[in-house]
Amino acid sequence: MSKKSILYSLVSVLFVAALVLSACGATPTPAPEATEPAAPTEELSVGVVLPTKNEPRWIQDETRFNDAFAAAGYDVQILFSDGDSAKERNNVQALINQGVKVIVICPHDATAAAAAAADARAAGVKVISYDRLIRDTDAVDYYVTFDSVSVGEAQGQYLVDKASGTGNPLYLYAGAATDNNAFLFFEGAWNVLQPKIADGTFVIKNSSRAEGLQDKATLTRDEMGQIIGQVTTEWQFDVAKNLAEANLTAASAADKGDVFILAPNDGTARAIADVFAADADVTSYVVTGQDAEIPSVQYIIDGKQSMTVLKDVRTLVGDAIAASIAYLTGGTPEETATYNNGVIDVPAKPSEVVTVDQSNVVEALIDSGYYDASEFTGLP
Ligand code: BGC
Repeated sequence: MSKKSILYSLVSVLFVAALVLSACGATPTPAPEATEPAAPTEELSVGVVLPTKNEPRWIQDETRFNDAFAAAGYDVQILFSDGDSAKERNNVQALINQGVKVIVICPHDATAAAAAAADARAAGVKVISYDRLIRDTDAVDYYVTFDSVSVGEAQGQYLVDKASGTGNPLYLYAGAATDNNAFLFFEGAWNVLQPKIADGTFVIKNSSRAEGLQDKATLTRDEMGQIIGQVTTEWQFDVAKNLAEANLTAASAADKGDVFILAPNDGTARAIADVFAADADVTSYVVTGQDAEIPSVQYIIDGKQSMTVLKDVRTLVGDAIAASIAYLTGGTPEETATYNNGVIDVPAKPSEVVTVDQSNVVEALIDSGYYDASEFTGLP
C-alpha cells in the first residue's frame, strides 16, 4: 500500500467513524471548528443515491444524512434519481468515477437497479441496499432496512384493534409492485388481517383477487402480486386518490358506513383519507400509514389519519454508516437476518418500528426529539 493510499484510507475511516458517532448519539456531536476545512469531494469514500424528492419520506433521509455528515464537518454527495432508473444508474456511475468505495443505494425500481449494482461491483465498490432491496442480482453486499413485514403487521393490527362485530368494510391499498417492500408490507398486513377476514370481522370491498384468496393464510409472491396489481397506489398521491375515488364510485352505500382502510404509507394515506372523508356515505374511517411524515403527523393530530408507523430514519442512517465503516476497514457489517433478493440471501440487520397515533404522538415524536413541536399546530 502506498503512503498516499494509506492516508486516503485513514481519512476515510476517520471520516466515517465521525459520522457514525454523530448519527447514532442522542446528542449530536458538535461540528469541528470552522478552521478545520471540509474534506474535498474527491476524498469522500461513501456516496448515497435516493429515489425521489417528491415524497417527504426521502427528504427526511436526505436531512438525516446531511445532519450526520455536517455534524462531522464534512460534505456528502447525496444524489436523487427522480424516479428514473436510468438517472439512478448515471448517479452510481458518477460516484464510481469520483472514487467512492461504498455506495448506499435506495432503488427506484428493485430489478432495474441490478444493472447499477453490477457497475459498482465491477468497479470494486461495495453496494449497500438502503431501505429497499435491490433484486435479481448477486451484486448487493448488505441490506440496511427496517423490519418491513412488521410495518405491515402494525398496520393490520391497528385495524383489527379498532374493529368490533362483523361485516366491517375493508379497503386494501398497496405500494408499487416495482418496490420489494410493497410485498413485505402487504405480507405483514395479510398475516394479521387474513384470520379476521376469514372469521367475518372484515369484508374486503375493493379487490376480487384478495376476496378469492381470503381463506389462504400464506400467499405466494405471485398471489400477492395479483392483489397488489388490483390495489396498487404506485406510491403516488394521484394514483391513490384516483383509485380510492373509483373504489367508492363502484361501492354501494351499504359497502361504506364505518370503514377500515389499509393504506401503505403516509402520502397515499392522506390522499385516500381525503377521498373517504368527502364521501357522504362514509360515516367514519380508520386509515393506516407509515413514515411519520410531518404532514401526516399533523393529520393524526387533527383526527384525519388514524396512525402511522415511525421508522426512525436516524437509526437507518446510523446503520448505513456503520456498515460503510465495516467495509472501509476490511470487516463485515453485523448480520441478524437475510433477505432473499431472487438470486442470493442478502445479509441484513432489520430495525424495529413503532406504532404512533393520537395517544402517543407527543411521546414518540416530540419528547423523543424526532421533531420539534413548532412543526405542528394543535398538539395535545
Ligand atoms: C419505503 C417507505 C416509503 C415508500 C414510498 C418504501 O420502500 O419503505 O418508507 O413510504 O417506499 O416511497
